Formats: sequence, structure tokens, C-alpha cells
Amino acid sequence: MKEWLKSNKKVTRVIKDVAELANYLWQRGWAERNAGNISYNLSGMIQEDLSNMDEYPVFGLDRGYPELGGGYFFVTGTGKRMRDLARNPMKNACIIKVSDDGRHYHIISRNKKNLYDFRPTSELPTHLAIHEQLKLNDSPNRAVVHTHPNELVALTQIKEFQQEKELNRILWGMHPEAIVFVPNGLALVPYILPGTETIAQATLDRLSDSEVIMWEKHGTFAVGEDVLDAFDKIDIMSKSARIFFMVRQAGYVPEGLTDEQINELKKKFHPEN
Ligand code: 13P
Ligand code: ZN
Repeated sequence: MKEWLKSNKKVTRVIKDVAELANYLWQRGWAERNAGNISYNLSGMIQEDLSNMDEYPVFGLDRGYPELGGGYFFVTGTGKRMRDLARNPMKNACIIKVSDDGRHYHIISRNKKNLYDFRPTSELPTHLAIHEQLKLNDSPNRAVVHTHPNELVALTQIKEFQQEKELNRILWGMHPEAIVFVPNGLALVPYILPGTETIAQATLDRLSDSEVIMWEKHGTFAVGEDVLDAFDKIDIMSKSARIFFMVRQAGYVPEGLTDEQINELKKKFHPEN
């Protein structure tokens, strides 16, 4: 790890949280091979004078992110395993600085010779699009977590639950905490080829509707103030999905909370909605 990174307490805290999260994702069974990716907006946390960007390799972006110009981001690497990220985060992730015009980025945490097999996640377009929108909204959310939670992915394989209303009705009904911590439910994005600008745009289009976006038959994107906060929102909805399948596997149809019970929770915990 570069010297300036080791002495930056705020950044090392973020890296420690990412390693902890990567371990949870692996333990949950949500991180087969290279599944999932994580990013965090480090802008304002790096004060070192890194003005000579020529010494860092530069890469083009498919579109511009003007709001992110000059910003710093922690981003996991493409093809990297969560279980390896947990043991050695900076070998499996990087820190990028977006160029002032928002059209390129420099990888500033690795030496050139360590770059030959390293690139940021293939879902970088979605991560950057989300970070740009969060910044535009002055949001306190700096973390973006993408993972493949088995139970939620399984639900979106069922035709009935490819309707957002039905999906959230079931998830909120399985446990009272679902509506407390994910009051807007999952925003469902129909299946689109991963790693594309198209799925990034479709995700961005739903960001104003929820902090947890579900990619049909693939996985979730969640935003949070830190990576563990983002994880909690996915974890709570996954628990609901798990309860649903447990009851079904036991041969019963889950009763679910009634509309009155759900409304009572909404009123108590989210009177503003
Ligand atoms: P990366 O290895 O490129 O991060 O991709 C993993 C993934 O989950 C794609 O959706
Ligand atoms: Zn994925």
C-alpha cells in the first residue's frame, strides 16, 4: 500500500469496513467467484498533494461524469473474489481519481507494474452514475454495494414477483423490520445485460424511488452512509425472502402481516410518508 494511504485514518477506516463487508458477503454465500462489487466516495478525505497525475495511469470512461470531476473513489477490481478482498483489500481494489472534466480516471493506489491484470469493476458505469446522482442530491450516502443475495434473486425468478408491488408486499409482510429499514421497498429493474451503460441508466432512473435497487434475476445495488449501512438494507430484505421460502418449504403459505399492520408500522416509523 502507498505510504500516504497508510497514514490516512479516514481512508483506512473505509478499507477496514470494506474488508469486513467482503467477509460477510462471502459467508452469506452471496459472493460466488467474483460476484459483487463495492465503491465508496472518498472525495474530501484525501488531502495529499497528488497534483502530478502524469505518474498515474489514465483510463477513459464511456461517458462523462462532470459532477465527479476531481473526486476520489475506492472501487473493487473486476474479476476479484470477495473472500480475497476480505484478506487483502488493496490487492483486490483500487483508489481512482476522476479527471477534472469527468471523462477519465487515474488509478492512484497502484504502481504501474502492478496494473497489468487489474481494472476496476465492470459495473463501474452504474457505481459512478449512482455516486454522481448522490452528489447532485447532497446525499449523506457515500457507499454503493452490489451483491447477489440468493433469496432475493430467487424471488425475481418467479413471474408473480417480477411485479414490484407484489414483491414488496411479500417482503414487507414477512417481518416488521423490512418496512422500518427499507420503507420504499425494492425498486425493481427488469433484466438487462450487466456491465453496460443501459443497466447503469435504468438503475439511475430508479434511485429516487429507493435506496435498494433489485436487478431482476441478478442481484441488488444498495446505497448507504457507509458500506455496512448499505449491506444492512439488503440483509433485512433478504431475511424476509428467506422466511418466505422457509414457510413455503415447510408446506405452508405464509400469512404475512395484514395491510393494517403494515400501515401501523408505516405511521409509527415513517410518519413523513
Ligand atoms: P466484476 O467482477 O466486474 O466486479 O463483476 C461482478 C458482478 O457481480 C457483475 O455484475
Ligand atoms: Zn453482479
